[in-house]
Amino acid sequence: MRALGISASPREDSNSRAYLEFTLNELSERGIETEMVNLRGLDISECRGCYSCAKTKECAQKDDFQAVFAKMTAADAILFAYPVYHASEPAKLKALMDRAGFLGRWVNNDISAGQGKGGYQWKGTAFSGKVGTPIAVARRAGHAFAFAQTLLWLTVNDFIVTGSHYWNVGVAGTGGKVNPEDDQEAYGILSHQAENIASVLKKLHA
Ligand SMILES: Cc1cc2nc3c(=O)[nH]c(=O)nc-3n(C[C@H](O)[C@H](O)[C@H](O)COP(=O)(O)O)c2cc1C
Repeated sequence: MRALGISASPREDSNSRAYLEFTLNELSERGIETEMVNLRGLDISECRGCYSCAKTKECAQKDDFQAVFAKMTAADAILFAYPVYHASEPAKLKALMDRAGFLGRWVNNDISAGQGKGGYQWKGTAFSGKVGTPIAVARRAGHAFAFAQTLLWLTVNDFIVTGSHYWNVGVAGTGGKVNPEDDQEAYGILSHQAENIASVLKKLHA
């Protein structure tokens, strides 16, 4: 059972990555293999909307997306950790999600089979049955909207979403500072989140 953490901050000393590392560590203590991929420095362009993935089952744009998508499809759980930018996900994460979600839909399904016929026969996405959860970090406000954005992506892509005793949000970054330790409550939330992810993974893979 493997959990992939996607760290989506462009900052080297990242608050969201610190919370993600903590959560991945909590998962490995519960027997889950973990890996982190850092989007910082990776070249992932926005989706061009060309629909070629619906026919060819691959993305026409060749950049670092392919390597990240391969890690996503190999994982049993994916955690998305990111700074909140204007109450939303940061742009590179959105680019990854647009491309991964659309390609992931068409790898198993035939878009032409559904046209004008009331829908195609659903064969699942590249992410069906995987466990997913967001970790949204902001200095002050906007977590809920950005968190909900990721939930919408997860739930349209056939993930199983795990919760905790509060939303997975961290409050950090005053003046750009790296200070996740100022929000100790977040660690309790993320620890319980890891407990839930591990428990669901163990049941799914029993
Ligand atoms: C372009 C930009 C937009 C931001 N928008 C918000 C926001 O909407 N709400 C907020 O509370 N903080 C906002 N912040 C602050 C970051 O979310 C905060 O500093 C966070 O801790 C950074 O996480 P990181 O270190 O993982 O990049 C913004 C920062 C930047 C650079």
